[in-house]
Amino acid sequence: MKPILIQQGAEAKIFLNKNEVTKDRTPKLYRHPKLDKQIRTRRTRSEAKILAKAKSIGVNVPKILKPNTKYSMPQPNQQNMRGYQIPNTDKFKINLEFIPGDRLSQTLNSYPEKKQLSTMQKLGHQVAKLHANSIIHADLTTSNVILYRPTSEATHKRSDPQAKRPTSEATYLIDFGLSYISTKTEDKTVDLHLMKQALEAKHFQNAKKLFIAFKKGYQWKDSKKILERLIIVEKRGRYKH
Ligand SMILES: Nc1ncnc2c1ncn2[C@@H]1O[C@H](COP(=O)(O)OP(=O)(O)OP(=O)(O)O)[C@@H](O)[C@H]1O
Ligand SMILES: [Mg+2]
Repeated sequence: MKPILIQQGAEAKIFLNKNEVTKDRTPKLYRHPKLDKQIRTRRTRSEAKILAKAKSIGVNVPKILKPNTKYSMPQPNQQNMRGYQIPNTDKFKINLEFIPGDRLSQTLNSYPEKKQLSTMQKLGHQVAKLHANSIIHADLTTSNVILYRPTSEATHKRSDPQAKRPTSEATYLIDFGLSYISTKTEDKTVDLHLMKQALEAKHFQNAKKLFIAFKKGYQWKDSKKILERLIIVEKRGRYKH
């Protein structure tokens, strides 16, 4: 089977091949080619690293299928039979497990209210785990969340413990290209602010209740401190344009 293009995102093309997704960061023509390659390489490498860390602490994220070992070593360009240079494009690609389900930005509004709130609470719980382990998502919107719907195939496949997936609906976080590690309260506050803004923009009919549900799930050692900071910074208008 040939890979099918399933999404053309702002940053990357997403291909699906069986149960495998390839995220291929495409060139941005407005950037200088050298800088463009650096940015794409850095984001790809960083996304792989942070996904692996998030997975290891039990956050619902897609599993990396073939960690690209070439990242750490600069690869010489390969040559084809006639001696032309073939650029090594692997460093712009990442292979991930396909998460079946709904992209939350597209479907949240159509769920019954009870399901909307329980989904946001689950999401808050996932973000709490990230933050408790100093991972900042940095692009936290409902576009980067998949509500995973278990398929009979996935729940029966128990041979590989890594392939274990939740048996009921669960929120999966994706798109860690801008993510980074930080222990700063301020950085975690920005994640929450981004989520709040996304709710106000795309899910405005119910934004208040949705964010309350998110906060209900966002419980960890420092959550109170982060939520208090959010109120202060928003009052100051620091994030307002
Ligand atoms: N592992 C996955 N399983 C299922 N779908 C995925 C997976 N990874 C990405 N997708 C789909 O592809 C879309 C784009 O992926 P991603 O957000 O990582 O790339 P992007 O270039 O930042 O896109 P965008 O600009 O839309 O945010 C996701 O919103 C989702 O619909
Ligand atoms: Mg995205």
